[in-house]
Amino acid sequence: MAGYKSVETKYMEDREKLFRGLVNLDRRSFLKLSAAAMGAAAGLAAPASFTPVTVAQEPGPKGAGDAESFRFAYISDSHLYERHVNDRFVRGLLRAVDDVNNLDPQPDFVFYGGDLAQLGQAKELELGAQILKNLKAPLRIMVGEHDWYLDLGEKWQELYGKSTYSFDHKGVHFVVLNSVVEADFWTKHKMTPMERMKTVAGLDNGLQSSFTVGESQREWLKDDLAKLDNDARVIVFSHSPLYKLYKPWNFWTDDAEEVQAILRRFKQVVVIHGHTHQLLLNRIGNIYFYGMLATAWPWPYAPEGMPELTIEMTRPDPFSPTDGCGDGEIPVHSDGLIDMVYNLWNRNPITVRPAYMTSWGKKDVPPMPNRPSY
Ligand SMILES: [Fe+2]
Ligand SMILES: [Fe+2]
Repeated sequence: MAGYKSVETKYMEDREKLFRGLVNLDRRSFLKLSAAAMGAAAGLAAPASFTPVTVAQEPGPKGAGDAESFRFAYISDSHLYERHVNDRFVRGLLRAVDDVNNLDPQPDFVFYGGDLAQLGQAKELELGAQILKNLKAPLRIMVGEHDWYLDLGEKWQELYGKSTYSFDHKGVHFVVLNSVVEADFWTKHKMTPMERMKTVAGLDNGLQSSFTVGESQREWLKDDLAKLDNDARVIVFSHSPLYKLYKPWNFWTDDAEEVQAILRRFKQVVVIHGHTHQLLLNRIGNIYFYGMLATAWPWPYAPEGMPELTIEMTRPDPFSPTDGCGDGEIPVHSDGLIDMVYNLWNRNPITVRPAYMTSWGKKDVPPMPNRPSY
């Protein structure tokens, strides 16, 4: 049949166009590409893209200027493969960048929560950097295990510098930790760098070590926080949750209690993490933990160890690319507590209010999921 193109041919042609366009991704071609990615990927790209986080602050004395409210955007876990392998995840990140660029006013900065690459390869990380450079707002970034274990962070650090750092923004102290430090398990197994990477990328293979923050970063953290009063506003970014959820999948940080002890003296601390690709809520004493969605795919919930405050996202259909996805927003109140708003498929927006967290789930209980999670 003259002129006939199969759905697959059309899809592959479109995909080729997408990748050709990625070669020199300037602002104009980015806009064209992201629009094309949205159109062609309807039903293919996961709808989770980013979460705006608004930090409210009491106005300070006139002219102080450091207690202004502000907003940043959080994007995480894009898991980019080399471009000829998988385009769906590329489209997911393009969409997130495009969505954030469409915010008006622009956020003060964008925080990327780790796992930009899937197998830590230079080409994956470069592809990610090429897409992220199109953000209009300044980028702050954290490392995930998928970025790190092929070359032990060499390429990532070449692109982004140190994986542990802190910064102050309008009176809030932000800390960025590398929470995916593993003890050497590879030498005794004589693993190649790719075998090491694939072992860490796997879930319950029983070969790898556990994630830690490690002693040197804990020392750094103590020093970094030493200058702050106990009522300072502190937001910590970690890749893995800074608590112990489920060890076989490395939803876990082995020295979590030691890190929590360093944060204990503050009135309230907010920890925002990626890695688990799912909505999670937890509170340990003065520390409130928020697990964020991925742009790539949602993980199932762990079979045990789930923090009891978590209001689960809906996951009724593992074969649907929109399953377990959605978006949301996080208003951080001036007292340091958070409203977590989820907009999930087949569910009305759910707002988790600070009273739910501060009363250990007794007050302001949000509606429970109306569909089962598998
Ligand atoms: Fe991830
Ligand atoms: Fe991860």
